[in-house]
Amino acid sequence: MPVLTVDGVGSFEIPAGKKLVLALEDEAKIDQLHACGGNARCTTCRVEFLAGEPETKTPGEAAVLAAKNVTGVRLSCQILCDHDMTVKVISRLAGSGRVDAGKRPSDTL
Ligand code: FES
Repeated sequence: MPVLTVDGVGSFEIPAGKKLVLALEDEAKIDQLHACGGNARCTTCRVEFLAGEPETKTPGEAAVLAAKNVTGVRLSCQILCDHDMTVKVISRLAGSGRVDAGKRPSDTL
């Protein structure tokens, strides 16, 4: 199983192919935001990669990052845990002022 390391939190074995946003919630117990429900629209699911950044983006991720002129981050709702990776969590419910993290994203891309 791939290992997800969350900077300052720990390392977690993740079922292969699980969405990164769901792994952050379920295995790492992070209050990760995902305001649009994992539909590549809001960018609140953003994370910074410290290692193992995927080389490719889904068309949705590429489009919304370009449209919002956001660089240096990736969208955890558009990435599958199919290899070891290390991320820094930068967009959490705590301190966001939001009432909830957003609708749970679907299990598949
Ligand atoms: S872009 Fe909205 S949850 Fe990922």
